[in-house]
Amino acid sequence: MCGIVGYAGPRAESPSSRPVDVALQGLARLEYRGYDSAGVAVIDGDDVRVTKRAGKLANLREALEGASGTSGQVSIAHTRWATHGGPTDVNAHPHLGGREGELAVVHNGIIENFASLRTELEQDGFSFTSETDSEAAAHLVAREMEQTGDLTEAMRRAAASLEGAFTLLAVHKGAPDTVVAARRNSPLVVGLGEGENFLGSDVAAFVDSTKEALEIGQDQVVTVTANSVAIIDFDGAEVTDAKRYTIEWDAVAAQKGGFDSFMAKEIHEQARAVADTLRGRLEDGALRLDEMDIDPSVLRSIDKIVVVACGTAANAGAVAKYAIEHWCRIPTEVELAHEFRYRDPVVTEKTLVVAISQSGETMDTLMAVRHAREQGAKVIALCNTRGSTIPREADAALYLHVGPEIAVASTKAYLGQIAACYLLGLFLAQVRGNLYPDEIAALMADLEQIPDQIQQVLDSSAQVEQLARDMQDATSVLFLGRHVGYPTAMEGALKLKEIAYIHAEGFAAGELKHGPIALVEEGQPVFVIVPSPNGRHSLHSKVVSNIQEVRARGARTLVIAEEGDDAVLPFADEVIRVPATRTLFAALLTVIPLQIFSCELATAKGLDVDQPRNLAKSVTVE
Ligand code: F6R
Repeated sequence: MCGIVGYAGPRAESPSSRPVDVALQGLARLEYRGYDSAGVAVIDGDDVRVTKRAGKLANLREALEGASGTSGQVSIAHTRWATHGGPTDVNAHPHLGGREGELAVVHNGIIENFASLRTELEQDGFSFTSETDSEAAAHLVAREMEQTGDLTEAMRRAAASLEGAFTLLAVHKGAPDTVVAARRNSPLVVGLGEGENFLGSDVAAFVDSTKEALEIGQDQVVTVTANSVAIIDFDGAEVTDAKRYTIEWDAVAAQKGGFDSFMAKEIHEQARAVADTLRGRLEDGALRLDEMDIDPSVLRSIDKIVVVACGTAANAGAVAKYAIEHWCRIPTEVELAHEFRYRDPVVTEKTLVVAISQSGETMDTLMAVRHAREQGAKVIALCNTRGSTIPREADAALYLHVGPEIAVASTKAYLGQIAACYLLGLFLAQVRGNLYPDEIAALMADLEQIPDQIQQVLDSSAQVEQLARDMQDATSVLFLGRHVGYPTAMEGALKLKEIAYIHAEGFAAGELKHGPIALVEEGQPVFVIVPSPNGRHSLHSKVVSNIQEVRARGARTLVIAEEGDDAVLPFADEVIRVPATRTLFAALLTVIPLQIFSCELATAKGLDVDQPRNLAKSVTVE
């Protein structure tokens, strides 16, 4: 939510790679984090030059075309997801600070004490032009700079007096080679280049320039020039143990690679994504999750699991419940992180909290993690983004390794999350002795077949794509499923809502007769996710009955069923086939046609598939 870029370097010599251009390239890679407005600031001689525009990055590029005087050594830039103040030019970042606009600031997060700060700063003669909380931070840093004459110290003092969540980047005309940044509860990483350095909300901001990155911890200030990076904490103490790491993926991974959208590309990467989540986890027939550094005695002692997550990640968590309870016999709850945090949940030292988050930055999930740890629970994070806050604050982390997910609507991370949940469930069963080694080996063998099966589903996408194009005028679509088909139905509905703006609801098929069936009228499209006929017979036959129930009321039934499952044929208007697998593992296959359906339908409607309205990739506010 909001993307931030900073650059300090010597590239000013070349006309197409001035600091302003480097910042724009970074913004282009971060635009998925927010796209209400975009802006950039450079120090150009004695001037702080700010250019900013409401709307997408293209508007900013247009405003900058032919602009002179955008050289200098440093730049900061921002792409916004509006919180305080609407998405206008004035509210766009960077914000000028100081009595004469001698400094510029970009901000991600929410400053909770901005109203009192604003009053105080106005009384002190600072004038405000925007409605944002961020402008207060800009003036505050500028005022501290007046007093100290040192940009790092000014940022440190200002940051220490701010409440809420923030990443702040500042440039000042008195320090034309320096970018200073501070972070609390909001992401920030440094990219280490040769004779140039970068700052970004995530590594996508600079991965085409350098693969070396440095994590910036909570409540720290970092000062960056072309040849130096220095970190202190909010008390002024030097930080010497910042974690340096090499970024695993390259810039090509963050490009569309011939697909119409990142979402389409990411859907088609799912076979490899799941293979990457599963890779290297088995040794001599035993499951090894070495990167998840937690004492097995802790896993043996727990008596309850609570999965916390939001949105798509919560749907992955719902699949985890079916798997973990089945394999491990540990009571497992799944709760939306924002509901968990504010309802006084029962959490003890024997509770294992599993926090699922692609970005690792979702504020609702982070707050749930903190709350759980305060109650003494152990927390395992299932995340995709290295160096992000949730895995760093958790007791242990298991990474998805699915590569960067750029489209706002999550697809390959969802599959990676489900696969990671299976790994965690099987590992718990192994450690606690719930399953015999040969049972785990058999389950893993079937799980390892899934990437090929995903590829088969992707290779037969033409049928669903045609269906989507035919249905682009639909105004309402229902999704039904039982067992892991239920979270799949929820996920199918979420995808359609968020990128195609079509009213969609996912239901547990058994719930139908308790109310939702009243929605069904002639022609109502209903997707039904059918479990394997080779699994529990009663589960399969119940879903087949549900298909008949909606069809009898005029529904158009779009049935996702296993190859060879002929029982559905008499009641299906359309049958979409997926390969046969265990009932639990089908969650990794049956959702794919639904992802393709939404992506293709939104594309056919001419919508912006990757950047749907009102949304942002990483939701760093509560
Ligand atoms: C929907 C989607 C969101 C995210 C949710 C949590 O397609 O992507 O619902 O799943 O905002 O995000 P993470 O996983 O980053 O915590």
